[in-house]
Amino acid sequence: MQTLWQYHLVVSIFLAVHGNFETKDVRSISSGLSFGMCAGYCKQSINMTLDPLQIIALKEPNFEQTSYPPIQKAFPTTQNAWEDIVTTINLKIFQTLGDTVGCPDCADGGAEWIRVDWINGSKRVTFENGRAIKGLEELIEKLRQMRQQYIAQI
Ligand SMILES: *[C@@H]1O[C@H](CO)[C@@H](O)[C@H](O)[C@H]1NC(C)=O
Ligand SMILES: *[C@@H]1O[C@H](CO)[C@@H](O)[C@H](O)[C@H]1NC(C)=O
Repeated sequence: MQTLWQYHLVVSIFLAVHGNFETKDVRSISSGLSFGMCAGYCKQSINMTLDPLQIIALKEPNFEQTSYPPIQKAFPTTQNAWEDIVTTINLKIFQTLGDTVGCPDCADGGAEWIRVDWINGSKRVTFENGRAIKGLEELIEKLRQMRQQYIAQI
């Protein structure tokens, strides 16, 4: 009994962390860039959510600095823009990736990440700034453009 219960617990934790999802289950997709050895606004990200349909842009320092308060702003977006991004996620490839690809920020080159939150799970993959991941080139490129566009406005 005990063992069966433990087995179920382990299986559900595994699914919660590594569970698969379909495009229609996605609730938010976010992407960021950060530098460890850096002063000022070293971290920036965008978070596109379905409900409400918006993009939250955020920039913040690595630690509290009076001259660099975190700045966050929400921008409205459209169903088309949402679908454009979400359908660009190659589910098969994204789901099989490890949490880290390559050696992000190793030579102070910066780390980029993509995170997908779906109905009952989430996954974040961190990779080397400026690099592509095979099969996800288009998604990475679109998210970079979105980040540039929105971070420039805050
Ligand atoms: C997530 O939701 C789907 C559809 O409702 C379900 O089939 C799946 O078992 C759920 N997974 C977890 C880990 O709860
Ligand atoms: C993006 O926003 C959604 C909805 O508020 C939230 O659940 C998710 O954790 C956010 N993602 C990040 C990386 O903060």
